[in-house]
Amino acid sequence: MQIQHIATQPIANQQMGTSGLRRKVSEVTSTPHFMENFIQAIFNAVDAKGKTFVVGGDGRYLNKPVLQLILKMAIANGVKKLIVGQDGLFSTPAVSCVIRKYKTDGGFILSASHNPGGPKGDFGLKFDVENGGPCPQEVSQRIYEHTQSLTEYVIADMPDIDVHTQQTQKFGDTEIAVIDSIDDYVELMKALFDFEQIRALLASGFRMVYDAMNASTGPYALRIFEQELGAPKGTVHHAIPLEDFGGLHPDPNLTYARDLVEIMNGDKAPDFGAASDGDGDRNMILGPHFFVNPSDSLAVLLHYAVQRNPKGVVGVARSMPTSMAVDRAAKDLGLPVYETPTGWKFFGHLLDAGKITLCGEESFGTGSCHLREKDGLWAILFWLSILAQTRQSVQAIVEELWHNYGRSYQMRYDFDGVDKQVADNMIKALREKMPSLVGQTFGRWHVKKADDFAYTDPVTGEVTEHQGLRVVLNGGRLLCRLSGTGTQGATVRVYVEGFEAEQVHQEPADVLAPYMELALSVFEVEKWTGRTQPSVIT
Ligand code: G1P
Ligand code: ZN
Repeated sequence: MQIQHIATQPIANQQMGTSGLRRKVSEVTSTPHFMENFIQAIFNAVDAKGKTFVVGGDGRYLNKPVLQLILKMAIANGVKKLIVGQDGLFSTPAVSCVIRKYKTDGGFILSASHNPGGPKGDFGLKFDVENGGPCPQEVSQRIYEHTQSLTEYVIADMPDIDVHTQQTQKFGDTEIAVIDSIDDYVELMKALFDFEQIRALLASGFRMVYDAMNASTGPYALRIFEQELGAPKGTVHHAIPLEDFGGLHPDPNLTYARDLVEIMNGDKAPDFGAASDGDGDRNMILGPHFFVNPSDSLAVLLHYAVQRNPKGVVGVARSMPTSMAVDRAAKDLGLPVYETPTGWKFFGHLLDAGKITLCGEESFGTGSCHLREKDGLWAILFWLSILAQTRQSVQAIVEELWHNYGRSYQMRYDFDGVDKQVADNMIKALREKMPSLVGQTFGRWHVKKADDFAYTDPVTGEVTEHQGLRVVLNGGRLLCRLSGTGTQGATVRVYVEGFEAEQVHQEPADVLAPYMELALSVFEVEKWTGRTQPSVIT
């Protein structure tokens, strides 16, 4: 086996976004050495020689060839061992689980998460560190610096490696172990939840549907729901991972999880509906004719986590745009709340330092100290276990939260495909404007605070600036930030939150219409983008 040294040049903008490097497949395939450069930069940045990594992805288009690149380049870089999910498949939480269980030095996740797949879709690569979580900024910055000074990459000249057969092979100094992608994750879930209790619920006539959206969680869900928990065959929809997700946009929300939403809003709606995204870290929870807002979900999970193990819960964290529902629950429970910038990487230090037990984002992400990635199936199992314990409906559980603490109504408008320069100029101009808003009155609201959110990591002291514009009103918040996961132009996100202490049964769109009107005006969305209508509402 020969090691080839291939000359290359830096490729501009190989900077990770909110969650890894994501690009259009067309850009990846038409830019020479695009993935090779990025992979080599990671190996250089983390001194890969002699180390052990986990590798797998969500099965999307390019998963197979890029997996082979990682294996062959790892061999050339003197990596000690690679643990590969069978057929190159692993959900993101499963990678986190395997990294932690086998105490490896990190892992590669081939995924663009909830972005569409296929030749016309997106591809991405995430790198997790030894705690099983997304690499912190300091590491991603080092990787970026390597991409900008790269002159060559190294790769073993060899035929493709068999990743279908579960076996361990040795190539040069590198061991490649292909393992079952599902076993370790299922074992962890069984240690966390009372499967017997959930099995009893499912045997009692309780009906559920899970939509895997033709993405990575299909095989995990078949195993967990249909085999382990005894749900009937057909409980898992879109169970086969496909390179283009069968044309679905694997983002579990009311817009993209259309089929599931239709079933749950239908005449004979099951008791419980859930879905995950491409790489399995997001979750959406539905009851019959009822949608669980992800921020409310975090507050519900906190409540039951404390009820089950009062001493085991030390605190909670939410990303800045996530509603303050969990803050009220935590206050009542006497627990600290940390407000972090958007993106899971900010939770890692808090989890490692034992400051929080649960964390979540409004973008359908929930997780806990069991891993360092958000975990869709874990959240769904947590919900099932609550339903099994209480034998109440999904709606009743959420309404109890509202009755106890009031309700944070919440809505997000996304404006996709905005010119990048225009979006940057918009945020810059608005940033300047923030201080002047403080004290102003808009109808029934006055502005208590207006700033550009900056975060000081309570563990490391590291300061992260420019994490979103924030206008805090009496009884609500208006927020605006640019997405860090898009692959085409910029996406402007506008979030609104309105609190009602008593009126908890209204339509969110009705309650929030005046908030959104004010937000669009304060953030000058039409002036900058020319848009009056969002691309997606969640
Ligand atoms: C989005 C979500 C964010 C989440 C990330 C990865 O990032 O808003 O909460 O962590 O996807 O799933 P954004 O595109 O807003 O930067
Ligand atoms: Zn994801």
